[in-house]
Amino acid sequence: MVKECSGRIDALIQIKDSATSEDNFSPILKSSPAIGDPGGCESTIENSSRTQPHSVKPSGSLEKNYVRADPSYLQTLGQAHSGWIFGAIAELIDNSRDAKATKWDISIEMIYFSKAGKTIPMLSVRDDGHGMTHQEIVRMTYFGHKQPGTNDPDRIGRFGVGFKTGAMRLGRDALVLTQTADSRSIAFLSQSLNEGKDNLEIPIVSYCRKGQYMELDKSVQSQATAKYNLKAIKEFSPFDKYMIGEKAGLFGDFSGTQIYIWNLDEWGSDYSLEKKDGFLGGSSFHQGDILIRSRRIRSRPGQISQKVPLDYSLGSYLEVIFLVPRMRLSIQGSLVKSRLLAKSLNKTHVETTTIMGKPVQLTLGRCQFEWEQMNCGIFLYWHGRLIEVSF
Ligand SMILES: Nc1ncnc2c1ncn2[C@@H]1O[C@H](COP(=O)(O)OP(=O)(O)OP(=O)(O)O)[C@@H](O)[C@H]1O
Ligand SMILES: [Mg+2]
Repeated sequence: MVKECSGRIDALIQIKDSATSEDNFSPILKSSPAIGDPGGCESTIENSSRTQPHSVKPSGSLEKNYVRADPSYLQTLGQAHSGWIFGAIAELIDNSRDAKATKWDISIEMIYFSKAGKTIPMLSVRDDGHGMTHQEIVRMTYFGHKQPGTNDPDRIGRFGVGFKTGAMRLGRDALVLTQTADSRSIAFLSQSLNEGKDNLEIPIVSYCRKGQYMELDKSVQSQATAKYNLKAIKEFSPFDKYMIGEKAGLFGDFSGTQIYIWNLDEWGSDYSLEKKDGFLGGSSFHQGDILIRSRRIRSRPGQISQKVPLDYSLGSYLEVIFLVPRMRLSIQGSLVKSRLLAKSLNKTHVETTTIMGKPVQLTLGRCQFEWEQMNCGIFLYWHGRLIEVSF
C-alpha cells in the first residue's frame, strides 16, 4: 500500500476484483486453515446441532457449542485491523451490504451492565438485510470458508473471518440478533465468557415463527441447550430477556441483523471514544458522529493541517466509504451525507491498467478544499469500498 504521497494531488485507486489484503489485514490470517469450516467441521466442532443443524440429541442431553480452538484465538483475531479501527467497522458494513441491506445504523448506547456494576458504552449496529437462518448464524461463527458459497458477483465476503476479526477488534464481547421471515436467532461471541476455558464456546439460540410468535426451534437445539446458552448470555452480557425482547421488537415484521459490541476499552489507553448525537434544534442541525481518537498524532511531514478527520471521525469515513453510495448509513441517529470523491475532484486524469490480471483504475485529481489545506492523499477502493487511506 502507498504510505506517502509526494505531489499535491488526490488520487482514487479502484480495484475491481482482487484478493489483495484489506485494511492492513494480514493475508496470513485470512488464508490460514479454517477452524470450524462447514466443509470439515466434524473433526473440529463437538456440538451436534452445529455439525448437523437439523439433528437433536436424545432429550435430556445437553449439547454445547464448543469449537476446538483456544479461546485466545478471539484475541488473535482482534489483532487484524490494528492499523485503522474503521476497517473493523467496515467489515460489518460489508456483511450488511452482502445481505442486501438498504439501511445501516451505527450508534453508541450507554447501558447498565450489572456484572461490571456500572454503565458502559455499547456499540450497536443494525441493518435491514435478509438476516440469517439458524444454519447461517452457525456458519457466521465458523472461522473461515473453504470456498465462497455464492455466485453473487457483487458479494464482498469471501474469507469467512470478517465479522469475527471486526467484532473482536472493536470489543471483547459481541451479541448478534438476527431475524428472517420465519426465524430469529441470537449468537454470543465472547472473550469474557471464554476466559479460562479450554475450548471456545459460542452460545446460539434459535427460534422459529409460529403464527404471530417466535418459539424455540427444537429441530435445531434441545430445550436444555437453549436454556444453558441463554443462561450464559444473561450472565456474561448486559442482555436479559427484557432487553433481548426490546431489541428484537425493533425488527417488527421485517428481517435484519443487529450486532452489539461492548467492553470497547480494549482499544487501549491510547484511544478515547466520543459520541455526538445528531439533532435538529432551532435553525441548527448537528450531524451525529462517533469519534475514535488516538492520542498519538500521526506525523505528516510537509503538511500544514495535522488534524485529519479521517483519522478519528467515523462520520468522515462513512462519507467516502463507497465510490457509489450503496446504503443509507446513519450515525447516532443522523443520516450520513455521502461525498462522491471522484466527482469532487477537478483536473482529473484517469489511468486504467491491470495488476495481477485484475483491472485497476487510477483517478488522479485535485480537491479544492484539500488543495487549500496543502493536503494530499490516496484513497484505495476495492469492490467500490474504501479499504485504505493514505493522507
Ligand atoms: N449483517 C449480516 N446479515 C446477514 N448475514 C450476515 C451478516 N453478517 C454476517 N453474515 C453471515 O455471516 C457469514 C460470515 O461473515 P464474515 O464476515 O465472518 O465472513 P464473510 O463475509 O463470508 O467473508 P470475509 O472474511 O471476506 O468478510 C457471512 O458469509 C454471512 O453469511
Ligand atoms: Mg464479511
